[in-house]
Amino acid sequence: MTAKLLILDDDHDILFMLKSIFAGEEYELLLESDSESALRRVIADRPNVAIMDISLPQKSGLEVLKEAKKIDPGLAVIMATGYKTTQNAIEAMKYGAFDYVTKPFDMNKLKATVKKAIDCNLLSRKVRYTKERPQAEEDLTEDLMIGSSPEMIEIWKMVGTVADSDATVLIQGESGTGKELLARAIYNNSRRKNRPFLAVNCAAIPEALLESELFGHEKGAFTDAHSRRIGKFEQCNGGTIFLDEIGEMSMANQGKLLRVLENQEFERVGGNETIKVDVRVVAATNRSLLTCVKEKSFRMDLFYRLRVVNFFLPPLRDRAEDIPLLVDLFVKKFSRKYGKNIKGIAPEAMAMLTTCNFDGNIRELKNVINSATVFCRGDILIPGDFESFLKAKTPAIKEVDLEAAGDDYYEVFWSMLEPVFDGICQKNKGAIYESVNMGLEKALIHMAMEKSNNNQVFAAKLLGISRNTLRDRLERYRIGAAEA
Ligand SMILES: Nc1ncnc2c1ncn2[C@@H]1O[C@H](COP(=O)(O)OP(=O)(O)OP(=O)(O)O)[C@@H](O)[C@H]1O
Ligand SMILES: [Mg+2]
Repeated sequence: MTAKLLILDDDHDILFMLKSIFAGEEYELLLESDSESALRRVIADRPNVAIMDISLPQKSGLEVLKEAKKIDPGLAVIMATGYKTTQNAIEAMKYGAFDYVTKPFDMNKLKATVKKAIDCNLLSRKVRYTKERPQAEEDLTEDLMIGSSPEMIEIWKMVGTVADSDATVLIQGESGTGKELLARAIYNNSRRKNRPFLAVNCAAIPEALLESELFGHEKGAFTDAHSRRIGKFEQCNGGTIFLDEIGEMSMANQGKLLRVLENQEFERVGGNETIKVDVRVVAATNRSLLTCVKEKSFRMDLFYRLRVVNFFLPPLRDRAEDIPLLVDLFVKKFSRKYGKNIKGIAPEAMAMLTTCNFDGNIRELKNVINSATVFCRGDILIPGDFESFLKAKTPAIKEVDLEAAGDDYYEVFWSMLEPVFDGICQKNKGAIYESVNMGLEKALIHMAMEKSNNNQVFAAKLLGISRNTLRDRLERYRIGAAEA
C-alpha cells in the first residue's frame, strides 16, 4: 500500500520542491495551497501523514491542525515553520502534531521524519492530542521563555506533549539555565493553569522546617508550633508544586515525598489524620541526581518516580545561537524598565556577546544586558556599555581549581599576584614584602568579618585565631573603625 502524504503550503516553490523530493512509488502526494482544500482532502482522502505550514494566509496552520485532528485523530501531522517561536512549537505539539520542523528544511531529516510519521500512523500508535479547546491567550510576558536552537525546540515540543498530563517532571540543568521558568511554562500550558503554582526551594529552608513547610504541622507538634499550619501541598491542592533544588532534600523528607507521589497522601507533622491531595510535582536540580543516588544521598526509588518526564536544560554555551534572541528580549525588557528608548544592540557588541563564556548561563546574560542598559546613553547598546561587565569577566585571578590548589593556596595567590606584580614593584620599590603581606592579612580579616556579619566570635572561629588576635588585627588595620 502506498502511503498518502498531504502537503499544505501557500508557497508554490515549497510545494514544488517537496513534490520533487517525495515523488515516487512510495507516496501518493496530495498537494494543497489553501487550508480549506487541505481539510477537504483530510475528509475525502484520509491521508496518513500531512506536512503543514504554520503561517498561512486565511487560517493559521495551527487552526488547520486542530480541525484536521478533529476529523482524523490518527493523522500524523508535521508542522513546518520559518518563524521559530516557542509558543508555536508548544502549541503544535499540544494540539497533537507528530513533529515540528523548521525551515529551511533539512531534507534528509524531513524524509526521516515523514517515514517515522507513516510508520507511526500505520501502526496506529497515535500521538495523544487534547480535546479541550485552548484557554484564552494569557499575557505571559513575565514568564516568557524563548529559544530557537534545536535543543530548545526539542524542549518546547516536549512541553507541549507532556504539559497536559499530570506526570511528575524532573528538570535538570546548570544554574541559571531557566529551570524555574521551564517549570512555569509547563504549568502555564497545563490544564492546572488556573489552579495554584507554588515554588519551594528545598535548599533555602532548614531540613526540620522543610517538612512542616511542605506538609504542615499540628498545634504542639514542636516547641514553636503554637497553632496548626497548613503546608504547601495542601495549599496548592489541585495545582502544581515546584520543588527546587530537590537534591538537597533530607532522606526523611524524601520518604514522605515519595509517599505523596505514590498515593497522594501524607500526615501533617505531629498529626494522625491522613490528608489526601491532588498535586502535580515538578522538581528541579542543578546537581546530577544520579550522582546523588550513587552517593546514597538520594533515594533511587524517588529518583525514578520523579523522572517520569525528564528535561535537561542545556547550558547556554551549548546553544550560543539563542544568544541574539535572548539579548533582544532582555534589551526590550530593561529598556522599558528604565524608561529608556533602546532599539537594539550594535553588531560589534552582539558579536562580542556571542563569543563570551556565560558560566552563569541565561541569568548572567540577563544581568549583563541589565547593566549595559543602565550605562547606555544612546538608543543602541555599544561595546562601551559592556565595559564594566568585561572588566569583571577578565579578573586578575584566573579560574582556579580549589581542589587542586593544595592547602596553602599557593596557586590561587600566584595567579592573583602575577598580573599586578610588576605594577606593585614599580609603586613600592624595594618594599613590597611588607605591604603585600599586610594587604593580604587585612583583606582576609575584613572578609571574615563581613562573612560573619561583623560578629567577632564567629570571625575568629572562621579564621582559626583567638579573639584577642582578631581584635588586635582589627585595630591595626582599622577595620570597622570608620563605622564606629
Ligand atoms: N529561555 C529563556 N528565555 C528568557 N529568559 C530566560 C530563559 N531562561 C532563563 N531565563 C531567565 O534567566 C534567569 C534564570 O532563570 P531561572 O531562575 O529559571 O534559572 P534556574 O535554572 O532555576 O537557576 P538556578 O539553578 O540558579 O535556580 C531568570 O531571570 C529567567 O527569567
Ligand atoms: Mg531556580
